[in-house]
Amino acid sequence: MAHRIMTVVGARPQFIKAAVVSHELQRRGTFVEELVHTGQHYDHNMSQAFFDELDIPEPAANLGIAGGSHAEMTARMLVALEEELLRREPDMLLLYGDTNSTLAGALAAAKLHVPICHVEAGARTRSMTNPEEINRICTDHVASLLLACTEANLANLASEGLAERSYFVGDPMYDAFLEYSKLAREPQLESIVDGSTIDVPPAFYYVTCHREENTDDDAVLESLLAALEGLDLPAVYPVHPRNRMRVAAFAQEREYANIVLCQPVGYLESVWLVNHAEQVLTDSGGLQCEAFYAGVQCVFVLDFVVWPETMVGNRNQLAKADHEDILKKLAAEQVIDPGYQPFGDGHAAEKICDIIRERF
Ligand code: UD1
Ligand code: UDP
Repeated sequence: MAHRIMTVVGARPQFIKAAVVSHELQRRGTFVEELVHTGQHYDHNMSQAFFDELDIPEPAANLGIAGGSHAEMTARMLVALEEELLRREPDMLLLYGDTNSTLAGALAAAKLHVPICHVEAGARTRSMTNPEEINRICTDHVASLLLACTEANLANLASEGLAERSYFVGDPMYDAFLEYSKLAREPQLESIVDGSTIDVPPAFYYVTCHREENTDDDAVLESLLAALEGLDLPAVYPVHPRNRMRVAAFAQEREYANIVLCQPVGYLESVWLVNHAEQVLTDSGGLQCEAFYAGVQCVFVLDFVVWPETMVGNRNQLAKADHEDILKKLAAEQVIDPGYQPFGDGHAAEKICDIIRERF
């Protein structure tokens, strides 16, 4: 009998992880998967573009829930996902990462005694002011099956008493990066300032910034933009919708000449930018790992480490949103040990499907 899986996705990085796992579930022929999109990300270039480019199965439902406070968003998703679980009666709920969509899915399923499989389990920042940390910890502790991207994450789960339900599988983002690097293509950038089309400069830094910690405070955002303006190469910065308005307002005032402020690009285009960038500057969980996969040096603009595995040989360094600090980190030489690959062997999706089949 086919295993019935309901998968909850809502945010950009989850579409990418779900793509490789959904394809593998389909290949097996013994699973029936229904995707439920919470609607957390909804702009075409933050959602549908990924379904199109990565050939992700059409969601069985889109709940259309986005925005609002953490409590409001999570609570609305919780109610709607409970209804979806009751209607669809899956054998298992599949969740990715640490967004509010993940947490809402976890809470709804746990109370209905639907077993949960959590992919990207065990990641820890040790910062309880980081909203994603709360989502990760709660999800891991109510899930039945915990699939870790790295051995360090597996060890975190063991230290919280969760070893029996935990497995190391590798990172499906790494699978996706390897698979889609072959199809990567140069983007045409669309300016958020005047809507014009811009070519990617011959040499550039690839920049993204969207975290609450960096974008809720105008001073931090402005300091980051000032730092980018003073760099030796142009910064290609696809702006997340969270801070689009405010970045555009700063740009009107300051008329930056060295920053290409553009709309978010598709995944194949983002992979191209990573592979061709001089260096990456970001606060993105996923993008810092992609820089690591590509061997491109990264500066991670945040107060705490998110993927300690990448913080070796100057390959990824923490920096404040401050010109001097960023310059210092950009100037440090990276040292790559080609044998060091903590994110698995590029076959995480297969391992995820194997373990789901064995355990359910
Ligand atoms: C969310 C996740 C974060 C993840 C990020 C990936 C949580 C708590 N945070 O942060 O872990 O790294 O996604 O990108 O779940 N918005 C739009 N259009 C969109 C999407 C969002 O205008 O397509 C607006 C929303 O209305 C909201 C703001 O951007 O006002 C922030 O969106 P939200 O989903 O709350 O958080 P993210 O910053 O995207
Ligand atoms: N990404 C993308 N287009 C962009 C910026 C990022 O496709 O304009 C990809 C990026 O390559 C990575 C993922 O989005 O695969 C990271 O998502 P995000 O930074 O939104 O979330 P996080 O990883 O921080 O949770």
